[in-house]
Amino acid sequence: MEHTDILAPLDIELQKVRSLGGSMSVVVIPQRYADKALGYKRTVDTAVSMKDYLVVGLFNTQASEASARFLSLPKGIAVYPQDGKDIETLFFEALERLRFMGTTPWVKRLWDSIKDARSSEFKDDPESRFISSTFYQFLAFLAAHPNEMRYLLKGSDNPELSWVREYLPYGHGNAGESRENVSEADITELFQSWRYQEKMETKSEKGKNTLRRFRNIEHLFTLPSISREIIGLAGDTLLAASKMAGIIEKDPVLTSRVLKVVNSAFYGFHRQIDSVEQAVVILGNDEVINLAFSIAIHKVLETISPEYAKQLWEHSLVVAHLSQWLGPHIGYTNKQRLYTVGLLHDLGKIMFLQRGHFIGGFSGPASLEDLAGEEIDSGISHAEMGGYIAERWNLPEAIVDGLMSHHLPSKARDMSLAVTVHLADVLAHCGGIDLARVNSAAVTYLSERKGPAISQDVLSQTAGEIVQRVKTILEAEK
Ligand SMILES: [Fe+2]
Ligand SMILES: [Fe+2]
Repeated sequence: MEHTDILAPLDIELQKVRSLGGSMSVVVIPQRYADKALGYKRTVDTAVSMKDYLVVGLFNTQASEASARFLSLPKGIAVYPQDGKDIETLFFEALERLRFMGTTPWVKRLWDSIKDARSSEFKDDPESRFISSTFYQFLAFLAAHPNEMRYLLKGSDNPELSWVREYLPYGHGNAGESRENVSEADITELFQSWRYQEKMETKSEKGKNTLRRFRNIEHLFTLPSISREIIGLAGDTLLAASKMAGIIEKDPVLTSRVLKVVNSAFYGFHRQIDSVEQAVVILGNDEVINLAFSIAIHKVLETISPEYAKQLWEHSLVVAHLSQWLGPHIGYTNKQRLYTVGLLHDLGKIMFLQRGHFIGGFSGPASLEDLAGEEIDSGISHAEMGGYIAERWNLPEAIVDGLMSHHLPSKARDMSLAVTVHLADVLAHCGGIDLARVNSAAVTYLSERKGPAISQDVLSQTAGEIVQRVKTILEAEK
């Protein structure tokens, strides 16, 4: 018999639903579960047997309800009208979903699709790297199901999944027995109900819209030319103080900042210093470049609410200074870059605030849920947003990459830089290293690195000193 003949009873039901304007779920279940499935079926539903499968049409039922009805059974579900308009299309769609979800390969396919997204080079569309390189909603979903993660990641038989762990906070998905009994069917159920594909597509659409909107307000994306000129000198280690002073003196705002800072209590000179060149000699070129950058960012900060601006500004400076201190301990020594990436790490938050977007919490380092919230709102998180702006400013790729990976250091091209800024961020927020807030790849990176460990005491003490130092600098700048 042709399959259209076998499906005929379901087709009659579908026609009824169509004329009533309702919905219908078509559920395909492997034949060996047919007895159980028939037990869960209501009298208004229609079931037919087709070779290896039982096909059930659930009258006026959406996918979530159909899924709940056959909770423990492997199945594929397609719903009229969204997944197809005729019974054949619905049947094949449901069958395809069953095949995808049926046995272990679905896990592999799911991971592969995420892996593809993270490893693609995005050559055709340079902006897509800011949209498609992360999927925080999915990571937050995984982090919210530690028991299921433990089941998926257990044993050594699944090496291709272990990278997932690197994306989660420390302690998630660690090997060990699941506390509750979790079956493959439960996990299949869980993943199916999450609708990965649909969410991914929505995220991508929103991300494109967000970037389009930001692109259209190009005037926000200019660095003051004086800052650009000074930052351009950053690589020149032999730069004479007189040359630097010459550039600074062209700009009255920068001149007064430099003089205020050098005369602040922090440097403790009794005599008033009024020559910019002398100030450059005392502060050092690095510090002057930092100041130039700070002024540029401060200008951007003026466009958001003073209360947020103050918090973000202090936080950014603390992370910049902490990164400079931590970097060499972690294996990254370019101090200028550490400062810049530390200072700019939450640049995306400033941009989001300016445009009235939602941003995750202020009170602690952004959690996966915070980042997922930003992504639901804008399609991208503040990390990608910051990377995008830094690229528009033509800053070096190392900075763009550092901003993008400060919450997921395993994605970074240079892990030592990303791990440093990630830890500096946690340290700035928590006053110490709270491992539950730290990404696991960062913990692994640190544990594999040889060299003296820094004790929690030293970390907390230095964090305290740096906060004090930043407060002094901020006082001087008033
Ligand atoms: Fe951040
Ligand atoms: Fe931060």
